[in-house]
Amino acid sequence: MPLVRLDGTDKTIEVGKGANLRKALIMGGASPHRGLGRWVNCQGVGLCSACLVRVTGGAENLSPPTRMEALHYRQPLKHDLRLACQARVFGDCTVNVPGQSPT
Ligand code: FES
Repeated sequence: MPLVRLDGTDKTIEVGKGANLRKALIMGGASPHRGLGRWVNCQGVGLCSACLVRVTGGAENLSPPTRMEALHYRQPLKHDLRLACQARVFGDCTVNVPGQSPT
């Protein structure tokens, strides 16, 4: 089972292979949403960017960036930035989640 580590913390979330990163973070008590984004977000459709996280390790173990991610930013996201709702987890990774991880 893949592990999602929260950068800068001792928190680790075990997820099923292919799990949606946003849902895994929320279920693990480390929501990527902060502020108003907790209540006002696109619910994982890939439109609002309220679930933006920085992948600091194991990016190769996530699904490739989606067309929604590219369309939203009108260019490919930097390799280490992902919309958590668009990423699937296929192996261990480490993510920096605003409000959860030290910046
Ligand atoms: S929840 Fe809106 S882009 Fe991910």
